[in-house]
Amino acid sequence: MCGIVGIIGQAPVAPLIADALKRLEYRGYDSAGVATIESGVLARRRAEGKLVNLERRLQAEPLDGKIGIGHTRWATHGAPNETNAHPHFSDDVAIVHNGIIENFAELRDELVRDGYEFSSQTDTEVIAHLVSREIKRGAAPAEAAHRAIKRLEGAFALAIMFRGDEDLIVGARNGPPLAVGHGQGEMFLGSDAIALAPFTDSITYLEDGDWTIVRRNQAQIFDLGGNPVERHRQQSIGTTLLVDKGNHRHFMEKEIHEQPEVISHTLAHYLDFAGGTWRPLDMPFDFAKLDRLTISACGTAYLAGLIGKYWFERLARLPVDIDIASEFRYREIPLAKGAAALFVSQSGETADTLASLRYCRNAGIPIASIVNVGGSTMARESDLVFPTLAGPEIGVASTKAFTCQLAVIASLAARAAAARGTITREEEKTLIRQLCEAPRLVSETLKLQHRIEKVARELAHVRHVLYLGRDTNYPLAMEGALKLKEISYIHAEGYAAGELKHGPIALIDETMPVIVIAPHGRMFEKTVSNMQEVAARGGKIILITDGKGAEQASVKAFETIVLPDAPDLIAPIVYALPLQMLAYFTAVFMGTDVDQPRNLAKSVTVE
Ligand code: F6R
Repeated sequence: MCGIVGIIGQAPVAPLIADALKRLEYRGYDSAGVATIESGVLARRRAEGKLVNLERRLQAEPLDGKIGIGHTRWATHGAPNETNAHPHFSDDVAIVHNGIIENFAELRDELVRDGYEFSSQTDTEVIAHLVSREIKRGAAPAEAAHRAIKRLEGAFALAIMFRGDEDLIVGARNGPPLAVGHGQGEMFLGSDAIALAPFTDSITYLEDGDWTIVRRNQAQIFDLGGNPVERHRQQSIGTTLLVDKGNHRHFMEKEIHEQPEVISHTLAHYLDFAGGTWRPLDMPFDFAKLDRLTISACGTAYLAGLIGKYWFERLARLPVDIDIASEFRYREIPLAKGAAALFVSQSGETADTLASLRYCRNAGIPIASIVNVGGSTMARESDLVFPTLAGPEIGVASTKAFTCQLAVIASLAARAAAARGTITREEEKTLIRQLCEAPRLVSETLKLQHRIEKVARELAHVRHVLYLGRDTNYPLAMEGALKLKEISYIHAEGYAAGELKHGPIALIDETMPVIVIAPHGRMFEKTVSNMQEVAARGGKIILITDGKGAEQASVKAFETIVLPDAPDLIAPIVYALPLQMLAYFTAVFMGTDVDQPRNLAKSVTVE
């Protein structure tokens, strides 16, 4: 969840490292640091809080070295302060680390017995001392790093630098991603291709268990046993479309507004809009022959999968098992032949989702993934990747990646229905036509911004919010609640509307806003009955519906947000928008850090 960078350059590297860290700040942002070697001496600058604090520190006290490593942190071990900020030093060794060292307590005790003193509470410092001890025992720097890496259990991506060698960075990967970037007379290491984008687009991703010796003119990669291995060098694409808010106040706002375009790009990968037909896909399984589909993901991506369950089961009569990945990976779920697995992830790096993918891989069933970051670990480990073409999502709260995931899943469910003969050719054409309408309807929904802003102004004063929905609007209710709590810190829960009377109704009084997602459709009347139950207890209803729903809701709502009519299949894509905007404006009114909310990180590479 932290971001790491290393550069062996031809000019002072600290400004370049700070620049690369900016592009990695989405991975963690509670402290940051840079170390370089200047005239043979290890020097570092670190700062608590956002990267801007480190930039100020570097302006006041610049670093000159032509080799350096940098880090932006999401705290696991130890408070987010300057002492725990990376890089960590031990004698002649400087290190940055992303991940968690699970046997750190045991290693620390061993090092303390050997006389090492610890100046931070981090697990990372253990690695610095281990490497340094191997050097003292006579190993050359790279070999010392290799020996230390072999002692580590857990998840890590590392970059290590050594005083006295201004042409060497050792990198290692076990879990979190790490890429080598190839330049002309300069070399780079980074957590992802985005970090390295302005420097190079020629990238080699390390695989789990790999470690690398990076020098100005080359990088050699080895397996854990020390044997040289060949890894594919590739051109990374699209990474220069970066990190610019345009005219928007926040990345989240920009990403919300990009949705018509990115949903359209994504759908165009699966559909021929003009011909009204599917584009061919090289599937690792045949939907027609599948007995079950197993879906696993985390957070918002999981909720996209949960909406998918309704679609696959209803349209294609394909039974779906779905679970959050942190549970799935340990549940020892029996996976029968005839099943296929589908993973959903924006980053393609989420540790729990990746572990679930590997569980299914070991069970021998075909693996497909819906991912946004091409070249990510999940993309590389899947039999088939269904890309979402949302572009880089920088705001920590997922918006455009979610609706693009829904667009992909909806088109897969419709395609599965056609393959399984559960819909007629006419119905198939109608579904394709409906999918093609999604970008336009999303664009129209964006025009409701001012109305939604008004509701958000009210929400900014409350402590708790309940979201209700039935059918696909139930996962959407959970997504609305998740969005609100993560960026505004208001406590929010999403419930199936029919479940209200089994407990949550006890929470309702006149101070409780209840957001009801109820387009006019098959579950409308039932949801209105649940609204009656809320109204009878004085709850403040905010109804999100369409024209017919607004007309026919027999309960007086405190506010009604009226969306354009949307066909059933794509309604969740359209209805995601007001939920995202409500959360966004509420957070803006409350003055929270919308793009980088507290305690969160964009890419969760630890379990
Ligand atoms: C919420 C959010 C998270 C992610 C989750 C999975 O707004 O962004 O809940 O959806 O951490 O991340 P990915 O999709 O990268 O696997």
